[in-house]
Amino acid sequence: MEPRVTGDRCRPRDVALTMSEFQIIEENLRSAMRFFGQATGSGEVRSLEGAIAMFSGLEYGVFNIALLTRGITSDNGSLEARLAAAARYFKTRTLRWSFWLCEDLLDPPVRRRARQAFFDFGLRAISHPPGMFAPALLPSVRPLPAIECRRVADEATRKAFAEITTVAFEIPYTVAYAVYTPERAWKGDYQGFVGLVDGRPVAIVALVAAAGALGVYSLGTLPAYRRQGYGEGLLRAAVAEMQQRPGPLILQSTEIGYSLYRRMGFRDATKFTVYLTK
Ligand SMILES: CC(C)(COP(=O)(O)OP(=O)(O)OC[C@H]1O[C@@H](n2cnc3c(N)ncnc32)[C@H](O)[C@@H]1OP(=O)(O)O)[C@@H](O)C(=O)NCCC(=O)NCCS
Repeated sequence: MEPRVTGDRCRPRDVALTMSEFQIIEENLRSAMRFFGQATGSGEVRSLEGAIAMFSGLEYGVFNIALLTRGITSDNGSLEARLAAAARYFKTRTLRWSFWLCEDLLDPPVRRRARQAFFDFGLRAISHPPGMFAPALLPSVRPLPAIECRRVADEATRKAFAEITTVAFEIPYTVAYAVYTPERAWKGDYQGFVGLVDGRPVAIVALVAAAGALGVYSLGTLPAYRRQGYGEGLLRAAVAEMQQRPGPLILQSTEIGYSLYRRMGFRDATKFTVYLTK
């Protein structure tokens, strides 16, 4: 059976058996990024030819996102056509946008000239996060401190999510506030969790069930609370809330999170390049 790369966003776990790890990772990411098109009420999610665009309604490039929806198997100008479609889409809406490219969607000859093609469309590479896959979480190697895990479900948890995003990911507060505090933002697949210590919000994570796996996004801990086990503790607690039994998880890692994720059972399965308008 041919693996399906596009299609339904939430499918039973056994469907994932027909997909390779990179396909699970990039399809889960596409589901997750819809959040930014739906969060503010002034953006949208738009299907393009071979790609998809999420416009947040804000002049903030990393929240205005385009992704491929299927692979490019021959060097016939398809990459340029899809970049042109994304560029046309954003041109009338914003000057600032980004493109998340899963390298495994490109055949080697196309991959070799991708950087130049993106450059020609005014985009430069800003990061190369590994796409990671874990069949299930490994047990913790040390006792973890207590952390209360609260689902984002009211004004206080929405504000806490925005505030911790601002600090942990260095995103302007006005932008984080516009994206994470509307009630409508949390009505889709993107489920947020806030970790509290002695009643104070100190960490966040978002989880997305899609493509037969649970995607981990936005794990962040306030600097003063880092390296004490709260990040791992919140992630484990949130996963336990979303999964009835152990199952596959995926994520894209930053450098600072990488060794934590390796210890928890994640392995490199693909590579992404994030391009941002110059
Ligand atoms: C990545 C991040 C979420 C980790 O949060 P955290 O609360 O510090 O996570 P933990 O404390 O569970 O683990 C972090 C490290 O502290 C270590 N640690 C945890 N408890 C410890 C203890 N009691 N004694 C010594 N070391 C400890 C862990 O082993 C881990 O080390 P490692 O990175 O070398 O594997 C945090 O650094 C952050 O917010 N970074 C910025 C945002 C970001 O990049 N997020 C990742 C998105 S993919």
